[in-house]
Amino acid sequence: MGDAPKKVTAPAIAARKGGERIAMVTAYDAPSASIASAAGIDIILVGDSVANAMLGHDHTLAVDVDIMIHHTAAVARAKPHCLVVGDLPWMSYHISVSEAVRNASRLIREGGAEAVKLEGGANRLPVVEAIINAEIPVMAHIGLTPQSVHAMGGYKVQGRAVVDAKELISDAKALADAGVFSIVLEGVPDTVAQVITKEVGIPTIGIGAGVHCDGQVLVWHDVLGLHDGHYAKFVRKYADLRQQAVDALSQYAADVRNETFPGEDETYHMTDEAAAALFEEEPRDLSWPLSW
Ligand code: KIV
Repeated sequence: MGDAPKKVTAPAIAARKGGERIAMVTAYDAPSASIASAAGIDIILVGDSVANAMLGHDHTLAVDVDIMIHHTAAVARAKPHCLVVGDLPWMSYHISVSEAVRNASRLIREGGAEAVKLEGGANRLPVVEAIINAEIPVMAHIGLTPQSVHAMGGYKVQGRAVVDAKELISDAKALADAGVFSIVLEGVPDTVAQVITKEVGIPTIGIGAGVHCDGQVLVWHDVLGLHDGHYAKFVRKYADLRQQAVDALSQYAADVRNETFPGEDETYHMTDEAAAALFEEEPRDLSWPLSW
């Protein structure tokens, strides 16, 4: 038997800069966390994408800190070797710095997260610094930030124009200087991600940001093909689990209807004597159809 995989920590992720690429997925429950851990995934992000992926919402703005704690705690209970990052939802770090620190601490204390993620650039520096000052590792997230869907006017690739690209580069540097241990780059041209990756001393983790990042992240339901909705251009489906589940459940329904489930091996029995006592007479033929 090989050694159990080592628990991944935020400093260990920071130390991976320029080294072996970092594999991150989202997950929102204990069985998924256990699967991610068994697959050797480095980081589980309990993303606010739980709103779309699990709860049927159209955007991530629908979830609050209590919902994020509920899902983060489920992931943490699986004790994955992966680093567990809890996503700070919209409005949990926008009102005041002290509220942001309190909400980050709830994801750690009540949710069992080992780091938190939040969206935004230089505008979030006071919050980022305060959370780091409370000894909580912070993962940043810039580019296409889904919590800004209304401000951005939709889910649009960011940083295509040079002026916007320069702002993203400057945001990334400021966040790195503030002490975040990694930065998610979402929905940005590969060249912008390449420049940021070269310019900052912490790992970049891309989603729709090309191959030059230090790692990649995909949403659970996308990477496993678990939904029948839209798959973005950057997604690679590594399985078609939705179709496999539909096939399995169709077979189950057919077996129930044609009475081949449950079979003998899937059935509990009484002794014949007990059955006889139950019917208060000689054992009857209990084969189907029953004779009484
Ligand atoms: O919530 C989420 O799934 C995310 C990833 C897309 C990075 O923030």
